[in-house]
Amino acid sequence: MSCVPVAADASNLARAAAILRTGGLVALPTETVYGLGANALNAQAVARIFEAKGRPFFDPLIVHAPSLEAVQQLVQSIPPAALELARRCWPGPVTLVLPKRDIVPDIVTAGLPSVAVRVPAHPVALELLRLAGVPVAAPSANRFGAISPTLAEHVASDLGSSVDMILDGGPCESGVESTVISFLEPSVPTLLRPGALPVETIEAIVGKVRKRAHSTSRPGVAAASPGMLEKHYAPRTPMSLLSAPADAHLAAELPASQRVGLLCLKRPADVSRYAAVEELSPAGDLRQAAARLFAAMRALDTAGLDVIVAEPVPEHGLGLAINDRLRRAACRDE
Ligand code: TXA
Ligand code: MG
Repeated sequence: MSCVPVAADASNLARAAAILRTGGLVALPTETVYGLGANALNAQAVARIFEAKGRPFFDPLIVHAPSLEAVQQLVQSIPPAALELARRCWPGPVTLVLPKRDIVPDIVTAGLPSVAVRVPAHPVALELLRLAGVPVAAPSANRFGAISPTLAEHVASDLGSSVDMILDGGPCESGVESTVISFLEPSVPTLLRPGALPVETIEAIVGKVRKRAHSTSRPGVAAASPGMLEKHYAPRTPMSLLSAPADAHLAAELPASQRVGLLCLKRPADVSRYAAVEELSPAGDLRQAAARLFAAMRALDTAGLDVIVAEPVPEHGLGLAINDRLRRAACRDE
């Protein structure tokens, strides 16, 4: 039977907490995207996440906790710079990779000696974490490699048959996943995934952050963060990423018989070539664009198109995360 989203009221939150404690799966809203949650300390419950998503076991999960104190139970130590970042930005969309304690099962971390942790800023997520009393492992609540969910309905259509409950918290505010940053070598924090907290904000707190080159696309070839696998967040419709904002050249190159969709920051003057257009932000605002990104990809993916062309956004602030998701969505299978 397929699960329909339910209101995040007190009685459903209490039920959801009980489901988590007894090894079930709850989809929950966060400020970034919807997560597919299970008790992080229960290896069998966590195994159900991988099964439901069709996610390979070598891709480790983020563990969510209601407070810095709760996070401290999961990690061996927090270097001063990471602690400062946590104090200033949690609850919020930044995930820290730190040395794990033994209580965190290997299945959560794909056997790595480190664990990714964050305190989410959504009131429903925080309340659920407090009520459950256990840390919650939660990747984005979509099938592996597919577009991340920013509405409860997205979760229901992707994973409705494999979750025990979907809590509806409305549309996600940020719309792209958290920024993942590793503090394993305390002197050099490393950006593993650009995300909803701009790297400029992080650097203002911890100093220079090392940015990795684009990732390996070969599963099993240990990327420093397996989420750096290239193809990800992808619509089923083939997508290509333009090297510059949409212009007449590209449209002219595509066969006239093809139904082409355009994903753009601002609608260009002439859209006559396109069968569908998704404009992320008429005002060119990157926050608004990030919040709309995945829903726009989904809309184009269901518009019966032959191809989606996407234009890159300016590469600063949330633009890094948006361009990263566009690049991966446009990445071809090898
Ligand atoms: O915004 C978010 O982060 C959402 C919400 C639900 O919190 N969650 C999310 O989880 O995006 P997921 O599983 O889709 O992404 C987890 C990312 C991946 O890039 C994964 O490789 C990385 O975190 N990661 C997890 N544990 C790691 C570890 N020990 N070392 C390096 N990278 C790790
Ligand atoms: Mg994901």
